[in-house]
Amino acid sequence: MAELFDEIEINGMALKNRSVRSATWTGMAKKDGRCSTKLTKLMGNLARGEVGLIITGFAYVMPNGQALNNQLGIHDDAMIPSLLKLTKRVHAANGKIAMQIVHAGVQSVMRQRRNQPAWGPSAVYDPLFRRTPKAMTQREIKETVHTFARAADRVKRAGFDAVELHGAHGYLVSQFLSPARNRRTDKYGGPVENRARFLFEIYRAVRKSVGRDFPVLIKLNTKDFVRGGLTQRDALFVAKRLAEMGIDAIEMSGGIPAAGDLGPARPKIRKASDEAYFLPLAKKIKKVVSVPIILVGGLRSFKAANDILKTGAADLISMSRPLIREPGLIRRWKKGDRKKAKCISCNQCFGAARGPEGVYCVVERLAKTRRKGNRL
Ligand SMILES: Cc1cc2nc3c(=O)[nH]c(=O)nc-3n(C[C@H](O)[C@H](O)[C@H](O)COP(=O)(O)O)c2cc1C
Repeated sequence: MAELFDEIEINGMALKNRSVRSATWTGMAKKDGRCSTKLTKLMGNLARGEVGLIITGFAYVMPNGQALNNQLGIHDDAMIPSLLKLTKRVHAANGKIAMQIVHAGVQSVMRQRRNQPAWGPSAVYDPLFRRTPKAMTQREIKETVHTFARAADRVKRAGFDAVELHGAHGYLVSQFLSPARNRRTDKYGGPVENRARFLFEIYRAVRKSVGRDFPVLIKLNTKDFVRGGLTQRDALFVAKRLAEMGIDAIEMSGGIPAAGDLGPARPKIRKASDEAYFLPLAKKIKKVVSVPIILVGGLRSFKAANDILKTGAADLISMSRPLIREPGLIRRWKKGDRKKAKCISCNQCFGAARGPEGVYCVVERLAKTRRKGNRL
């Protein structure tokens, strides 16, 4: 079976190893969604750090799908020139980069701030975001599907190696999949075949727009970890159908913000048994699909990552927080320093990303300041 530093090819995209930088919103894009020099530099560092595949933070496909401030946009051709600089930088460092595309639905904080209605499958009150979305009409669903397809075409034109659809973490696609959020009585609601229709239409439209030879990935929940949310059985159905339809790889995640400590970025990963918290569910999905499975969530040690690959439980492993603290983590492991990632999963990086600098590791910054202080 494979090991971390083995190569892999995903629909023609040759990766030098099995590591992925999971999509991470950095808060470093420009106000209008364009990529900044700072973000380009950060991605260049990750590529130099020997990450096999870098996935950008989620980029909104239309303005009303923007989740957060200083988020990348892919809603307009005007985004392309700055993104071309980004992909060029990563390729010059011998890296590969995919863009993750999203519509945030009810989780559009920007929309909330502007006091504008957010879109959702049904008008179900969201206690965490404290708002009720407007139930999308079939016309708006159609429009959104086309918007994803146009966005994916921009991703390709901007020089990315792949596109990843965000189907997880409680954003619009995940809201449609969830029986708790989707109470529709038309062809987009009810049994999982109907709740998944919106996603399947997006996938088909995206595939048509980018062609058979361009890698299309998806990030999916193994389970929502909230009462009435997406179940593992439904997730199995969705993953299986997408694989049959021709998706090129599935990144398995889980949870939505309302799941708290059972959300996508779980806190307190301390012991080996805390790592890879979606592995048991992802394994079941791996058994029924033939496409590469990327496992994300709590990977911290070389041993855990390599064992997962060696046993064939997943084909690639994906990390976010560890690479915020150590963009050179994969290179360090490759050079033979196999100590586990320094990340302590405190999640203070989320707060940092909201600030003027964009994302950084708060713990690392404090440690650096202390080291500096000791030298004075
Ligand atoms: C600051 C921050 C921003 C994130 N932004 C995204 C995002 O844009 N898209 C996404 O799918 N997941 C996002 N995530 C979740 C991660 O991709 C990942 O699924 C989660 O953190 C678990 O992996 P980890 O334990 O390696 O951090 C973000 C996580 C963090 C910490």
